[in-house]
Amino acid sequence: MSARINPSILSADFVNFERDFNTIAGADLIHVDVMDNHFVPNLTFGLPMVARMQQVTPLPLDVHLMIENSERWAVGYAEAGAFSVTFHAETTENPVKVARSLRAAGARAGIAIKPGTDVEPYLELLAEFDQLLVMTVEPGFGGQSLIEATLEKVTKTRRRIDQEALDVWLQVDGGIDESNIERVAGLGADTFVAGSAVFKAENRDEQIKHLRNLANTGIAHRH
Ligand code: DX5
Ligand code: ZN
Repeated sequence: MSARINPSILSADFVNFERDFNTIAGADLIHVDVMDNHFVPNLTFGLPMVARMQQVTPLPLDVHLMIENSERWAVGYAEAGAFSVTFHAETTENPVKVARSLRAAGARAGIAIKPGTDVEPYLELLAEFDQLLVMTVEPGFGGQSLIEATLEKVTKTRRRIDQEALDVWLQVDGGIDESNIERVAGLGADTFVAGSAVFKAENRDEQIKHLRNLANTGIAHRH
């Protein structure tokens, strides 16, 4: 298994997305943060923008919904052509229903948990999802430092995925950079969101390769 590096366009130039997509052509997926200013104290963009993004890039979009009422809104992103749609567990009473609607619409279904949310209830449901996203910072903003206490959930989730031989991607998002990606990969993550760590770099595609190499070293040394 090779690590996936998904640059977050929260750190991109918001009036030049298409230009910035061309600077990250070596990415595995493009991470797209949708924020509604209710679930998180920040506002980005919604469905028409995401639909248009998927038209101007050949890379698959990894949509991260930080919005309330996933039951109502999530499926629209799948219908708009997003490759993967991840909603927050905290926004619905019925995560399995949301995930099934996403898969029925042809997208991969992801579930995300905030730093304060326990992973245990979702481990029981893992087969219903294609991705579990452990937030390693409080959602809302790029450029924050990784919260160490969240990593225990990565270890637990990896154990369960391996025990049950599930095909579920284990994603981490927030504060991932060259100082910690190898270690986090060693704990079990295989899919890495990196916003500032990619967009700050002078050569973004080289930085993506560098991060992927470090993560692959961490995966190879897992025990
Ligand atoms: C934060 C977003 C992240 C953010 C990560 O709520 O979900 O995707 O862009 O940014 P960095 O990698 O800079 O922490
Ligand atoms: Zn995100």
